[in-house]
Amino acid sequence: MKITVAIDGPAAAGKSTVAKKVAEIKGYTYIDTGAMYRAFTWYCMEKGVDCQNEAACVALIPEVHIKLRPGHIVLCNDRDISKEIREPRVSGNVSYIASYKDIRLFLVDQQREMAGKHSVIMDGRDIGTYVLPNADVKIFQIASVETRAIRRYDENISKGIPCTLEEIEEDVRKRDYIDSHRDFAPLKPAADSILLDTSFMSVDEVVEAVIEIIDKKVAEKEANNA
Ligand code: CDP
Repeated sequence: MKITVAIDGPAAAGKSTVAKKVAEIKGYTYIDTGAMYRAFTWYCMEKGVDCQNEAACVALIPEVHIKLRPGHIVLCNDRDISKEIREPRVSGNVSYIASYKDIRLFLVDQQREMAGKHSVIMDGRDIGTYVLPNADVKIFQIASVETRAIRRYDENISKGIPCTLEEIEEDVRKRDYIDSHRDFAPLKPAADSILLDTSFMSVDEVVEAVIEIIDKKVAEKEANNA
């Protein structure tokens, strides 16, 4: 049976860590939509285009070819930019790019196509509300801003990405604000999503909770199809 799982939530809530593990355990395809907005942002910066100039960024759409490959590899025009897209300079600009409707429509088309073929777990900001409104499972994963900043700081340091805790916390707050105040497909919980506050949960506990929610939904779906 094909299952679609949407995990949304604010910046650095640990969605992708959890989604990757759940995808491995359940044999689903993991789709990191944030990586696509980050890749577009990286390309604008590479081209020397100001990310706050909507028209100039939108004009680049025809030249941007993003591919997500197994092993969490992100390619832009066949160049591997998996590491570059996690740099603070990209994080600092990505919410501008993600607020441009034309760029969202361009990337959402590709996300829907990827979800069409397999059982997927997709994480982002607007998956349950806009990209996959009929997803079987919708989870909105939150944690306090302080917890999220520490999680991202630890992650960056372990990956060798230099940063300070203060700048990470500021980035998280800024992105949350822009992401939830944009006009088109803003960050917000879908009406039928399950809220998961992970502030005091370990990764394994969150993974377990998500799998429990999925298994319950799958059993319901099977019973309805029987
Ligand atoms: O991992 P983290 O929570 O830091 O962010 P991400 O999932 O990599 O997403 C980076 C940025 O892309 C977000 O701050 C949003 O501005 C944007 N984004 C979005 O608008 N819609 C999505 N479905 C996914 C990401």
